[in-house]
Amino acid sequence: ELEDKKEKLYEINKEAARYFYKKLKTNNQALFYLKKRSIDRRTATIFGLGYSDWSWDSLYNYLIKKGYNEVDIEKAGLIIGKKGKDGYYDRFRNRIMFPIIDIRGRVIGFGGRVIDSSNPKYLNSPDTLIFSKGHNLFGLNILKKYSNIKKIILVEGYMDVISLYSQGINYAVASLGTAFTQNQAKYFKRYEDKVYICYDSDLAGLKATDKALEIFKKEGINAKVLILPSGKDPDDFIKEKGKKEFEELFKDSLNYIDFKIYFYKRQYNLNDPDEKIKFTKNISNFIKNVKSPIEADVYLDKISKETNISKEAIKKEIIGKSRIID
Ligand code: GTP
Ligand code: MN
Ligand code: MN
Ligand code: MN
Ligand code: MN
Repeated sequence: ELEDKKEKLYEINKEAARYFYKKLKTNNQALFYLKKRSIDRRTATIFGLGYSDWSWDSLYNYLIKKGYNEVDIEKAGLIIGKKGKDGYYDRFRNRIMFPIIDIRGRVIGFGGRVIDSSNPKYLNSPDTLIFSKGHNLFGLNILKKYSNIKKIILVEGYMDVISLYSQGINYAVASLGTAFTQNQAKYFKRYEDKVYICYDSDLAGLKATDKALEIFKKEGINAKVLILPSGKDPDDFIKEKGKKEFEELFKDSLNYIDFKIYFYKRQYNLNDPDEKIKFTKNISNFIKNVKSPIEADVYLDKISKETNISKEAIKKEIIGKSRIID
């Protein structure tokens, strides 16, 4: 019974994806938008990109004609009941549509991006019987095609995954417009120490990176961070610099402590004694999370060099907080 209900929603989503896909082929504005973003035909096809038109009811009418009932279409998150009146309207209008496809190839939901400057920039399917934002990732289906892949990159957005792919980096996935979750982290386990975070290089992106690192750590994954020039996201970067330069980023990737130092250095002025003390106390705290004494010593060195505070003093600061260093 529940399985039947789910099956129905997969079916409706698949039909909607087909509809959006066909619409894209004949809409010049949408095609122009993709061109502007350097998404070629082949990439658009592989990701099954589509377009939802301006109409308030074109998808509704299409699906009804196909024999689906409105209650099910609403449950799939594709239409919304009008407030205080009968009837429904299409959730997605005038957007590039990104089908979100699970590892088994089923369309579980959609993301939609406006092609002008209206708001919200992105709109996602609501959580449904078959879609939960915190439990899924965008791009997993693509990753699965290439089973020889040894590493994985977590990025912020749909466009990052798609743009990287079109330039030959076919191992990026994105969380779905919400903060990265513990559940999503589980998908990364098989990549062991080959997990990279490459979020946008703005303050929001850095903060999100810091959170994602902690989530990975809880999952026993030592993720590393790829640092982009300020203000860029992976899409911007690879378009501007190409695949080779993107791959160069791996050489300078930051591990847990390296990232903490990088991140906190941007928040504290080390020329100010008070701030320097705060910085050192904060950073030293993270050494507690490092399991190997050798690793911990390397980090102590780094912090000491960074701050000109003696390793001894930093060690003493940590004593009592850690069992590793005494
Ligand atoms: P582009 O402007 O198309 O390059 O998008 P972007 O991916 O660079 O956007 P941004 O870095 O702002 O956001 C990253 C991801 O967060 C997007 O891909 C979306 O999944 C999500 N997101 C961004 N803006 C919104 C929004 O207004 N609403 C929702 N629900 N999600 C958003
Ligand atoms: Mn429509
Ligand atoms: Mn961003
Ligand atoms: Mn972007
Ligand atoms: Mn971005």
